[in-house]
Amino acid sequence: MDKNKQEIDNNNLIQSVENIIKSASQKGYKHINDFKNIITEIMREHKSIENLKHLKILELGPGVKLDLIKFLKNEAKVKEANSVGKHLFLLKRSSSQDCLKDSYILPYLKSLPNNHVDLIYSRFVMERYSIHPLILIFSPYYKNLIFKGAKKEVMKEYPSSGENIIECYKQIFKVLVEGGIIISEVSKKWLAELNDEVIKSLKFKKVIDYPTGKFSHIWVLRK
Ligand SMILES: C[S@@+](CC[C@H](N)C(=O)[O-])C[C@H]1O[C@@H](n2cnc3c(N)ncnc32)[C@H](O)[C@@H]1O
Repeated sequence: MDKNKQEIDNNNLIQSVENIIKSASQKGYKHINDFKNIITEIMREHKSIENLKHLKILELGPGVKLDLIKFLKNEAKVKEANSVGKHLFLLKRSSSQDCLKDSYILPYLKSLPNNHVDLIYSRFVMERYSIHPLILIFSPYYKNLIFKGAKKEVMKEYPSSGENIIECYKQIFKVLVEGGIIISEVSKKWLAELNDEVIKSLKFKKVIDYPTGKFSHIWVLRK
């Protein structure tokens, strides 16, 4: 691509992301700035908020930060906006439940139809140890797995274990529509299980990846 055009495109992208963040903050989405890198990648892919309307979007592990998924649902008015994850306190707040499914990520992904979701994103989730230990202690699902015995089996289903992450990516590949993307930002690159070889073995095409901080990293992968 022409270097000047690339520069103009990049400046437009930065400007449109800043506009989205500014307008969302003014509307009360107070953690929206945390999603800057993810919004950048959504905009790089889809160019404008209007273009998102026909999309089915899923967030993995929002924790307490439902700002982006709610913004997509209420302001961008996307076709479907859901998130899935475990959080001890948030789930008790009924106002949060409209786009939050209380489930571990892997069983939820397995419950979705194939070729269903256009865009999946996650921030600081698809990496080992991204779930709070308290959640594991209080979880009947996890206790069940332990009492079932075999350590291997426990590790396979263990939320955010290495195997679990790879399994999640396999399911993500199935539930994405052809050409759909997963945007995954992680806080520690070396805990993310992803590299070019793994991406290839999962059959994804890498769109872009770059560091977003000292240890953090973002990947955009296309089915
Ligand atoms: C480090 S927090 C990040 C939360 C939020 N995305 C943010 O940017 O602040 C990771 C979140 O993902 C959830 N999580 C991680 N692995 C999970 C899994 N396998 N199933 C369900 N939730 C999971 C945790 O419960 C937690 O809420």
